[in-house]
Amino acid sequence: MARAPWMIFLLVVACLISLINFWVSNKEYIFAQQDLDSIAMKYKGKDIQDSFEDVVRDLKIRYGFHILEASPTDFFLMNAGGWMGQVCALHVSLTEYVLIFSTVMETQGHSGRYWLNISDFVINGWMEQWKEKTFEAKNFTAGTTVYHPWLTSAGVRFGANSWFLEYGRGFVPSSIFFASADVLFSTHDFVAWWEMICSFGRGFAREGFIAVEEFLNQYRDYY
Ligand SMILES: *[C@@H]1O[C@H](CO)[C@@H](O)[C@H](O)[C@H]1NC(C)=O
Ligand SMILES: *[C@@H]1O[C@H](CO)[C@@H](O)[C@H](O)[C@H]1NC(C)=O
Repeated sequence: MARAPWMIFLLVVACLISLINFWVSNKEYIFAQQDLDSIAMKYKGKDIQDSFEDVVRDLKIRYGFHILEASPTDFFLMNAGGWMGQVCALHVSLTEYVLIFSTVMETQGHSGRYWLNISDFVINGWMEQWKEKTFEAKNFTAGTTVYHPWLTSAGVRFGANSWFLEYGRGFVPSSIFFASADVLFSTHDFVAWWEMICSFGRGFAREGFIAVEEFLNQYRDYY
């Protein structure tokens, strides 16, 4: 008898996973890989301090209200999988995110294994990727794209002064645990962690607001 609540719990989790999987595999997405690639590649080889605001402006022209306002002071430190970088979130919803990732010092570690397909457009600098079950690390330099398919793992190394436009598509909340683990168990930098949570919260709130507004408009048109 004591086993019943566990069985129900596992059944609910299995149903949720399968529902989310169906949803992320069939829904329409806001961002297109090629668009983001071509916006990032306009600034290939450029320094982040010169071109950060231009990239954000171009994204805003293309995607409007879906891109959050961002300035260089919006970057927060992020430690995860052993590496350290800084992140500026430009869009966060339940199924997509767009951000700028920058490293000032060379750093390396574990990529994380996510329920997300992730693309990193290398704007300047380089990134090495050592895919699991392979025997070489590939070096991706400015102008190339690094793919990290969902549920796969890799070793990663980022060069000093590299920066990337990053696009993730899948179930975004599943990445929160990996993104928080080094804070909880190593750095205890709860200030940076809070900045991350606020910036993700800002993204969720913005997208929630847009969804409600679109729904109300449709409702009004209907009557
Ligand atoms: C990757 O390539 C860049 C550009 O050629 C180079 O500067 C960098 O040192 C390389 N990284 C590694 C780990 O070899
Ligand atoms: C992730 O990529 C795989 C192929 O590697 C694809 O089958 C799947 O539909 C993608 N998922 C999303 C949410 O884009």
